[in-house]
Amino acid sequence: MKKIFILSLIAGCLCAACEQQTPRYLDTTVSIDNRVEDLLKRMTLAEKIGQLNQYSDDVSDSYPMLRNDYYVQEIKEGKVGSLLNITGGTKRVREYQNLAMQSRLKIPLLIGLDVVHGYKTTFPTPLAEAASWDLDAIKLSARIAAVEASATGVNWTFAPMVDICRDPRWGRIMEGAGEDPYLASLIAVARVQGFQGDKADAVDGIMACAKHFAAYGAALAGRDYNSVDMSLRTLWDTYLPPFKAACEANVATFMNSFNDLNGIPATGSRYLQRDILKGQWKFQGFVVSDWGSIGEMITHGYAKNSKDASAKAILAGNDMDMESYGYIRFLDTLVTDDKIVDITVVDDAVRRVLRKKFEIGLFDDPYRYCDEEREKAALNNPEHAKAARSMAAKSIVLLKNDNNLLPLSKSTKTVGFIGPLVKEHKQNLGAWSIVDVFMSDVNCEEFIVSQWDGVRQRMDADSKLLYAKGCEIEGDDTSGFAEAIAVARQSDVVVLSIGESKLMTGEARSRSDISLPGVQEELVKAICATGKPVVVLINTGRPLIFNWVADNVPAILYTWWLGSQAGNAIADVLFGDVNPSAKLPLTFPRSVGQIPLYYNHFNTGRPGATDTDYVFKSGYMDVRTSPRFAFGHGLSYTDFQYADLKLSKKTMNSSEQITVSLNVTNTGKYAGEEVVQLYLRDRIGSVVRPVKELKDFKKIHLQAGETKLVEFVITNDKLCFYNDLLQYGSEAGEFDVMIGSSSEDIRLGDAFELK
Ligand code: BGC
Repeated sequence: MKKIFILSLIAGCLCAACEQQTPRYLDTTVSIDNRVEDLLKRMTLAEKIGQLNQYSDDVSDSYPMLRNDYYVQEIKEGKVGSLLNITGGTKRVREYQNLAMQSRLKIPLLIGLDVVHGYKTTFPTPLAEAASWDLDAIKLSARIAAVEASATGVNWTFAPMVDICRDPRWGRIMEGAGEDPYLASLIAVARVQGFQGDKADAVDGIMACAKHFAAYGAALAGRDYNSVDMSLRTLWDTYLPPFKAACEANVATFMNSFNDLNGIPATGSRYLQRDILKGQWKFQGFVVSDWGSIGEMITHGYAKNSKDASAKAILAGNDMDMESYGYIRFLDTLVTDDKIVDITVVDDAVRRVLRKKFEIGLFDDPYRYCDEEREKAALNNPEHAKAARSMAAKSIVLLKNDNNLLPLSKSTKTVGFIGPLVKEHKQNLGAWSIVDVFMSDVNCEEFIVSQWDGVRQRMDADSKLLYAKGCEIEGDDTSGFAEAIAVARQSDVVVLSIGESKLMTGEARSRSDISLPGVQEELVKAICATGKPVVVLINTGRPLIFNWVADNVPAILYTWWLGSQAGNAIADVLFGDVNPSAKLPLTFPRSVGQIPLYYNHFNTGRPGATDTDYVFKSGYMDVRTSPRFAFGHGLSYTDFQYADLKLSKKTMNSSEQITVSLNVTNTGKYAGEEVVQLYLRDRIGSVVRPVKELKDFKKIHLQAGETKLVEFVITNDKLCFYNDLLQYGSEAGEFDVMIGSSSEDIRLGDAFELK
């Protein structure tokens, strides 16, 4: 009913101005393709270019001021297709859509925002969630983010970031799903499905955006925005799969990237955008530039000026210009006077943008995401907090637990809770937090459960929880050590919460030294010297290097940034209400000098270096070649035994399959979850193949004493790779099957032959 009313309202205005009947593009009975074509025919070149133009709202002073009359006028003239970073929820979005409704053709705006790990309810940072290896939970996290965001007027998120990364110096590693193409592809799909919902026009869904296309995570030396120099085989085998998976999951949009790839800025890369994405993968959505990345092609030394950059970008397949102001100023001349850009190129880009606006129902109701009641309900839904808490507990990795120090008993008489992160609220959000940047009205002290509050609430009333900060995250002040040592001495057990600060990872937050900042390691040493049992919580967005802690502290929980329910989730795991089940989605190095270090490397001709035997072997004189903690590592409070590996047969051809089965038994005393991992190795190839590659996994729940049968099916697609001619396929030969609890902890093995 409401739909029809709005439709006739819009149509009515148009009729009065220029038409006798409802224009076809506003007729909901017409197919989307026909509506797009009808609208396109009516548009002037200026209006078409407008659809490819995106501005940011005034997040901070350095951003353009949309309240500025100039931009307001442009929206009214149909010269803006999308806005990002709108603060103020439905009320403000409604104002902007009102402006768009004053334009001649009344084309609604796409409203974009970086909804990366939750909207108000803040979930763990994406890398932390990836550690859960729990695809349903990850999907639910994106779903809830979409439910909240869409209720505030947002209809498009610039997420998921699906960049593979093998370099923890890169601050944006926290936004991805780690180093493995298989795991990251599944997570990419879960996130796209979660954000977008089941139907393109789900009012509680938002368009997703696979970014940053491509290879941004391989920035040389882990320095953000740096060049990427990579073989095409590595690009195809390792870096492109999550993008391809997102494309196959119907992700609405792609974002290109700041880096150059082998000398060509990704924003101007025809190979990436036209040949691969829109050509080979037949992507039907549109590509948005990264922030100002069209303009940055001048600085790269790839374009003479903004006009040249705009031509290069659109010809390469970049459809929408985010914040370079190039398309809006120069596309017109490039088409009409210079004839460098053919109108069909512009039409194709505009079609792609319009199609999305139709698909998400914006033409039928430009205000469909602007319902104040829905907004209020979505932002105060207690179920969302429950899901965030559960996701957070699933993300915590138990790296070490000597002598089963964990879980702690709730009736421990005195616990010392020490460290710079214990009483923090906002730090737990990590980077890319909407609450932190956009929602000044949220009372973070109440909304975010600090680690202190979470633990305090969980302990028995007559147990004591003592506090000392010890030191700051950064700086060299050790004056708080004495108090911290005194607290430790009075405690039966000490929990130390240390790490980075929330903005030491994220965009432009690369570090060359990824050890614990400041004097925190010294604090840990001082507390350990008291002889008390110590549990360390490490808070960060990236893998850090903490060798002393790893060697000397009996229990370590890697807590990443866990979001608004951090304190509750940490208490859940510390006291054993939740048995940890997370596994590292990437390799933790021992030394920065080992980077890039990843589990699915080649063997080389000289493997096997050890501490003492490294001469003429591929190793180091001063550090082992092995990781500190391996990809897939993560302990539980219980133990799992793997047995009875069986392969249904020992040979297969490319149309057959082999079933791999085994029994897993929970031999400990707690119920728990285990991620059973299947790795394969292609022994001999026309190009060398990795020493192992994750090809499947199952996350299973077992009661104490319970045994479950786990099965994997090996089909030909699990054996395929890109050869040196970039042809994708499998090659006959022998394959090793490895079943493990991590990439290093391989428990069972066998082999088969592909005929
Ligand atoms: C980031 C993108 C982000 C965009 C809009 C850029 O600086 O690289 O990932 O989506 O800003 O906020």
